[in-house]
Amino acid sequence: MTRTVRPEDPFTDRQALVTGGGSGIGAALVRALVDAGAHVVVADLDELAAQRVADAAGATGPGTARALRLDVTDADAVRAAVDDVVARAGRIDLLFNNAGITFGGETEDLTPEHWDAIIDVNIRGVVHGVAAAYPHLVRQGRDGWGGHVVNTASMGGLMAAGLITSYVMTKHAVVGLSLALRTEAAAKNVGVTVLCPAAVETPILEKGHLGRFHGRDYYLKGQGVRRPLDPDVLAAEALAAVAADRPMLVTPRPARIAWRVGRLAPAFANRAATRFVAKQRRLQARRADRSGGRA
Ligand SMILES: NC(=O)c1ccc[n+]([C@@H]2O[C@H](COP(=O)([O-])OP(=O)(O)OC[C@H]3O[C@@H](n4cnc5c(N)ncnc54)[C@H](O)[C@@H]3O)[C@@H](O)[C@H]2O)c1
Repeated sequence: MTRTVRPEDPFTDRQALVTGGGSGIGAALVRALVDAGAHVVVADLDELAAQRVADAAGATGPGTARALRLDVTDADAVRAAVDDVVARAGRIDLLFNNAGITFGGETEDLTPEHWDAIIDVNIRGVVHGVAAAYPHLVRQGRDGWGGHVVNTASMGGLMAAGLITSYVMTKHAVVGLSLALRTEAAAKNVGVTVLCPAAVETPILEKGHLGRFHGRDYYLKGQGVRRPLDPDVLAAEALAAVAADRPMLVTPRPARIAWRVGRLAPAFANRAATRFVAKQRRLQARRADRSGGRA
């Protein structure tokens, strides 16, 4: 059997956990899930942020939300969070491995601590979620729909341009994990979807800048989009992708086209990315000159 058993409605009264739910895309996913009737654990390192998101989403319903302080780099804590959902509700239906961090700048400026941090959150964080939830989903899948894993990767998981090299590495890993897992999960009635959006309007665009790196400029120009996606629009598209059991969500359209062209002509795409990196460096230097070296 290679087709997953799908429920008519994968959201109403389903049990969900969203990591990185306190901000940006995670918060939008929480809003969309609660709006669709799910019961959501809003898990984030930033407990106050998680609480704010849970309170706001829970106030409108029809689903519910509760906050949990969770560090996805802590395998035991992730397992405990997932097991707690199962203990309370009898099952877990939807796991969104969404927490992530980024570093932008020249790779020679990254310390071993930077590399460890991004691997720990962006790769190990997702692995911890899968290790904790997937056995439950497989078990549940013996009697019908087992549930769905949704991993937030990025366009950076499909295309490779420098100055965010460590981020690109981690997001390629998330795409590989997701697509491979999906092929074995299908026969166990478990779905897997990987989200690969271009720039989204969230605080991450201003985070993790080393040296002269400017995230907003980089992410927009690098992915051929004019303005960052609205996280609520992305969340709606993500839920539609889960409902349709799609392997990937690559959005918006210009990013999808760039990705397809890159697949057809990888050497061309790599030359274009090299030119893009050179252009970004020139822009960064000009910005630094204008601000008297403060940028
Ligand atoms: N915004 C974009 O342009 C964009 C594009 C593509 C993919 N993504 C991905 O989307 C995901 C969400 O990013 P966002 O844009 O909403 O960023 P964000 O910075 O707004 O939110 C990230 C959240 O993750 C939390 N977090 C960080 N480390 C954590 C940890 N160890 N444990 C638990 N929570 C932790 C933060 O506290 C924060 O609330 C990330 O995986 C990111 O790589 C973002």
